[in-house]
Amino acid sequence: MPAYTLVTFGCQMNQHDSDRIGEVLRGIGYTEVAEPAQADLVLLNTCSIREKAEQKLRSEVGRIGLLKRARPSLLIGVAGCMAQQEGERLAKRMPQIDFMLGPDNIGELPSILAELELGAPPRIRTVFDLDAPQFLSAQAEPGRVGATAFVTIMKGCDERCTYCVVPYTRGPERYRTAREILAEIRRLVDAGVREVTLLGQTVNSYRDPAGSLPVAPGAGESHFKHTLRAVALADESEFPALLRAICAEVPELARLRYTSPHPRHLTWSLILAHRDLPALARHVHLPVQSGSDRLLKRMLRRYTVDEYVERVDALRSAVPGVTLSTDVIVGFPGETREDFAATLALAERVKFTGFFGFTYSERPNTPALKLEDDVPEAEKSARLEEIFELTDRHRREHLESLIGTTEIVLVERRGKNGDYMGRSERNEIVHFACTGDAVGQLVPVRIREAYNNSLRGDVEPGFVLAPNPERRTASPAAPARRALPVLAGP
Ligand code: SAH
Ligand code: SF4
Ligand code: F3S
Repeated sequence: MPAYTLVTFGCQMNQHDSDRIGEVLRGIGYTEVAEPAQADLVLLNTCSIREKAEQKLRSEVGRIGLLKRARPSLLIGVAGCMAQQEGERLAKRMPQIDFMLGPDNIGELPSILAELELGAPPRIRTVFDLDAPQFLSAQAEPGRVGATAFVTIMKGCDERCTYCVVPYTRGPERYRTAREILAEIRRLVDAGVREVTLLGQTVNSYRDPAGSLPVAPGAGESHFKHTLRAVALADESEFPALLRAICAEVPELARLRYTSPHPRHLTWSLILAHRDLPALARHVHLPVQSGSDRLLKRMLRRYTVDEYVERVDALRSAVPGVTLSTDVIVGFPGETREDFAATLALAERVKFTGFFGFTYSERPNTPALKLEDDVPEAEKSARLEEIFELTDRHRREHLESLIGTTEIVLVERRGKNGDYMGRSERNEIVHFACTGDAVGQLVPVRIREAYNNSLRGDVEPGFVLAPNPERRTASPAAPARRALPVLAGP
C-alpha cells in the first residue's frame, strides 16, 4: 500500500484542507505515515501569509529533496496558498517538486497522481472553481473523529486589506449552501463531534447561495452610534441566521465557534445570536490589526477604532463575560510611534485574553507594496515585544482571576502524561486529571492554578463521567488540533 506524509504550514483553513487531502488519499488506498523517510508521497500544504513562510518551504523541500535523490520514486507535492500564488515560479526554482495543487483542486489529486505514475511531467494545477464552487465534505472516518471539528462555510475573500495575500491565494468569496453545512454538522455530530468551528476568511459575511435561511432577529437594525445606518445595513449578512439554524437543527451540538469574523460584519443581529444561543461559545476572535484610525484606513479595514470598541462593548453587554482575542500587525508602512501607542491603548481598553501579533511583511501583489516599508525591522520587533508584554499581562491577569471558579470544559484529548486537556467556553485551555475516558465530554473543573497560557484544576466532586461510546474516542492517528481558533499562519 502506498504511504503519504502531509505537512501543514498554515491556518485552520489550511489544516482543514489537509484533512480533506488526507481523506482523498486514503480513498485511493494510501496510508498515512509520520516520517517522510517511509513515504511514497510527501505533500507540503503551504501558507503564504508572511515572507517567512517561503523560507520554511524552501528548507523543507531541500530536506525532502535529499530523500528523493536517494529514492527517485518519492513524489513531492506542494499544495496550499504558496502553490496557488507562486506555482510557476516555485516549480522553476525547485525542480524536485513533482506537482502543485491549489486549494480548489484537491479533488483532482487522484488523477494527477495517476498521470504522474504513467510518467507525465510535473503538473501545476491551480485553478479557482469560480463557476461551480466545490466544498469537499468531511468524511467522519471511524477512529479519526475527534471531539472538535472544523466546518468550512465559505472560501476566498472579497476584502482588500492592503497588506494581505489571501484574496489572491484563495480567490473571491464563494459560499456553501446552508443545507450542505447543516448536513455536514449533523454527520459529524452523529459520529461523536461535540464542538464545531465554522471557518471562513470573513466568516460572518456568509450568505446562503440557495437563499434558504429565514431573516434573523435584529437583521437590518443598527443601534451603533459610530456606524452610519446605511453602512450597517450594507454589512448585514445571513451569518446569524445560519448560527440559529445550526443550533435549532443540531441541538446535540455542545459548542459552536467561528473564525475569523470581520469586525464590520459584527452586526446587531450577530450580537443577538450570541445573546440567545447557549451553544455559541462566549469567545470571539475579532482581528483588529491596529488601534490607529490612520493606519486602519491605510490597511483598508473599513472600520474605525470607535466602531470596533462600540461593537465590542455591545457584545459584552449582551453576553457578560465574553472573551475576545485578536490579531495585530505592527510596523505597517507609515506606522509612527503615536500610531503604535494608539494600538497599545486599544489593547489596554479591550483587554484581549488571546493575542496574535505579527510584524508587517511585504507580500506579492498586495496594494501595500506601493507604500514604503519604512519601519526598520528592529523597530518592528521592538514594538511587537512591547505589545506582547502588555497582552501577556492581560492574559495572565484574566487567567488568575479564574482561580476558584468552576469552568465547564469540553475535553479534547488526553496528553502523554495521562492528563486531560480541553477548553472552557471562553476559550481558556484547561488541564486536569481524572480516571475514565473524558474525551468529548463536558466536565466541570474547579480551577486551582493559572499558568501563562492555561489553567489547571480538579473535577468537581460528585461529577460522574458519562460512559463514553467507542466512537467518541479519537484514535492516536487523529490529528492534534491547534488549541486556539485563529486564522494565523507561521
Ligand atoms: N481573514 C483573517 C486573517 C487571515 S491572516 C481576518 O481577516 O481576520 C491572519 C493574520 O495574519 C491577519 O489577521 C493579520 O494580522 C496577519 N497578516 C496578514 N497579512 C500579513 C502581512 N502581510 N504581514 C504581517 N501580518 C499579516
Ligand atoms: Fe481578507 Fe482577512 Fe486578508 Fe483582510 S486580512 S484581505 S479580511 S483574509
Ligand atoms: Fe493561506 Fe491560511 Fe496562510 S489562507 S496564506 S494558509 S494563513
